[in-house]
Amino acid sequence: MSNYLIYGANGYTATLTAREAVARGQRPILAGRNTAAVAALAAELGLEHRIFSLDDAPALRTGLAGMTAVLHCAGPFAHTAKAMASACLDTGVHYLDITGEISVFESLFALDAKAKAAGVMLLPGVGFDVVPSDCLAAHLKRRLPTATKLALGFQTSGRFSRGTATTMVENLHRGGAIRRGGVLTHVPAAWQSRTIDFGRGPVEAMTIPWGDVATAYRSTGIPDIEVYVATSPRPRLLTKALRPFGWLLGSRLVQRFLKRRIQAGPPGPTDEERHRGWSLLWGEATDDAGRRVVSRLRGPEGYTLTMLTSLAVLGRVLSGQAPPGFQTPSLAYGPDFVLEIPGVERMDE
Ligand SMILES: NC(=O)c1ccc[n+]([C@@H]2O[C@H](COP(=O)([O-])OP(=O)(O)OC[C@H]3O[C@@H](n4cnc5c(N)ncnc54)[C@H](OP(=O)(O)O)[C@@H]3O)[C@@H](O)[C@H]2O)c1
Repeated sequence: MSNYLIYGANGYTATLTAREAVARGQRPILAGRNTAAVAALAAELGLEHRIFSLDDAPALRTGLAGMTAVLHCAGPFAHTAKAMASACLDTGVHYLDITGEISVFESLFALDAKAKAAGVMLLPGVGFDVVPSDCLAAHLKRRLPTATKLALGFQTSGRFSRGTATTMVENLHRGGAIRRGGVLTHVPAAWQSRTIDFGRGPVEAMTIPWGDVATAYRSTGIPDIEVYVATSPRPRLLTKALRPFGWLLGSRLVQRFLKRRIQAGPPGPTDEERHRGWSLLWGEATDDAGRRVVSRLRGPEGYTLTMLTSLAVLGRVLSGQAPPGFQTPSLAYGPDFVLEIPGVERMDE
């Protein structure tokens, strides 16, 4: 029987996913480094659990024994993806994660040849970042095959989980990133602003270094890519004002202070907030002849969507659909994959 393991199971997003998996009658194995927390969750859900650290290479490989796939949920992934992916390559286990970190996508892409040789699929970004936006990017490319520029954007309700906030804090000092001429290009934070109608009327949005800068290029081949997030004026102005202070934001002292504040807060949105929440995505592709296509997606709140897309990908993998090598969601399952998620709708302008 094929089965999968959820690593970092005691984290906010992994716990949501494990609970939903059990509600669907699945029996994933829960894993992580925190014995008490992982064992407690496993006991509550009636699941098997395994404890191992990512720093212990032999234990990590033993921990993956017998699995078809791992859903890796222990982030920030800049610290964890490499160890887990290399253990997956060694043990023939398909690798899925919920990263949104550009550097992680790029480092996993560099393992493409090894993954193909091992018959292993590496599919990072099976959550809110990047399943809906990647499917939207591929859909826009399908609508305008001559596209040379791609702009993607999102607007969501609600707040971040601790893990997301920590990952964002770790990247604060790095500024922004876009793709220009096919090359990942560093730009200042909040580099460009534009007014975007995500589907609820026009709002201001600014560029952010989001995962699609890495993945949408692999999915579409479009050489120029920017990603926008809807913001109110205050965070946009603050982001710009902090540009010269990258060295300070990246300092150990400031990082420690910000992370302590995050840990003192709630783990993530409450169930009620998630149920009330929503997410909107917008994408625009243009070509050199001045043609332009715009499409939008609307769907559930970001963490709910992450749980649903992760389980949808796992469903495909366990039924044998796991093309070896580095994949993006749309490369593996097509631009319409996201439409299988309950509550997701796509509109073409
Ligand atoms: N792409 C998306 O749309 C999306 C959506 C949701 C979350 N995320 C990302 O997923 C990650 C987790 O988010 P979350 O909100 O679930 O975080 P969380 O509640 O803080 O949980 C993090 C989990 O990762 C584990 N972990 C962290 N570093 C580890 C390491 N070095 N070795 C082993 N385990 C480690 C933690 O274990 P301990 O308890 O032992 O510390 C915990 O189980 C974040 O990076 C977040 O940005 C992305």
